[in-house]
Amino acid sequence: MNPFPEDIFTESADVDPDTLANLGPLTRLAGSWRSANGADVNPKADGPEHRQYIETIRFEPIDPQANGPQLFYGLRYHVHINTPEEEITFHDQVGYWLWEPATGLVLQTLAIPRAQVAMAAGHAKPDDTKLVLTAKRGETEYGICSTAFLEHAFRTDSYQIEVTFNPDGSWSYVLDTMLMVHGKPFQHRDVNTLVKVAEPKPNPLMLLNK
Ligand code: HEM
Repeated sequence: MNPFPEDIFTESADVDPDTLANLGPLTRLAGSWRSANGADVNPKADGPEHRQYIETIRFEPIDPQANGPQLFYGLRYHVHINTPEEEITFHDQVGYWLWEPATGLVLQTLAIPRAQVAMAAGHAKPDDTKLVLTAKRGETEYGICSTAFLEHAFRTDSYQIEVTFNPDGSWSYVLDTMLMVHGKPFQHRDVNTLVKVAEPKPNPLMLLNK
């Protein structure tokens, strides 16, 4: 039996315009963050390459979003990464983090400019200090979609992000993107701890209500 209501059109009347007050476990992500100590392992022709990276992330509160009765509060994000050696982009990523208070569902949508998109899902409680979200190739709900070339050369079978909120206000992540390269599994791993550099602005609807 599915857990969804018969009425798929009627939206909740109980929507708070203040996204920042309703982000549950995502509250601590809002704002801008930076770190120069990221660690990446990526696939290269002559074996795994290990690189240190510099990361900037901005999470901006968006207005509450309804799919009929399903209500999300969320953040739009942009990750930009370069390396100490080069100013050029090493990794770039955009998407949304979403929280459904009614069910504890946490979602991350992500798009990266090597023409790849994914949506990872997990569940959490509002005060959790650890989030684990996963996406799997071939799933139609929380899946991964790549170009034909990536499917051929760097097939991406799964993605997992583990976020830990640290007692000092920083947060850390471990990303595991499992690739198949020349028929062998490759663990493309990224790890970083981000420190806040700016507070978030309220979402547009909240600013109108002020
Ligand atoms: C902090 C996050 C990340 C960094 C710094 C990073 C960095 C890199 C680098 C430097 C390469 C090798 C590029 C090349 O030689 O052409 C690479 C390859 C790749 N990455 Fe990432 N990556 C990150 C996250 C991700 C995520 C989240 C995904 C997908 C869900 C992903 C998918 C891939 C794929 C499929 C390749 C192989 C394609 C290729 O090498 O041409 N990466 N990544």
